[in-house]
Amino acid sequence: MKPTSVATIIALLGVLAMAGSWRHLASAKVPAGAEQVIHLTAKKFEYTPNEITLKKGVPVIVEITSLDRDHGFKVPELGIRADVKPGETTRVRMVPDRVGRFEFRCDVFCGSGHEDMAGEFVVVD
Ligand code: CUA
Repeated sequence: MKPTSVATIIALLGVLAMAGSWRHLASAKVPAGAEQVIHLTAKKFEYTPNEITLKKGVPVIVEITSLDRDHGFKVPELGIRADVKPGETTRVRMVPDRVGRFEFRCDVFCGSGHEDMAGEFVVVD
């Protein structure tokens, strides 16, 4: 075998290996960093769980699904808001940088109990 064809085969193997790892990355649920994932479900007129304890400085991904209709997810003090739609998973990445209690609430009108649809992040050291 000529040296050039050996080099070609090595290059080809390299490309295949990279393609393989890209596919792996694309199918991974969480991109690099492997944050803790917290599942939250929304339904009229509550979030479950409605109190979530987080550690200051530790990044998390909040995965929110709706069991019935459109809801919203807003954490005013952390500058976060997202739509939560049935059949979809809403992912919100956050890094709590302060200790304290931060309310999250529904900000899409969803019926007679909408105003009470809320929960709290408790950020501890
Ligand atoms: Cu749920 Cu408004």
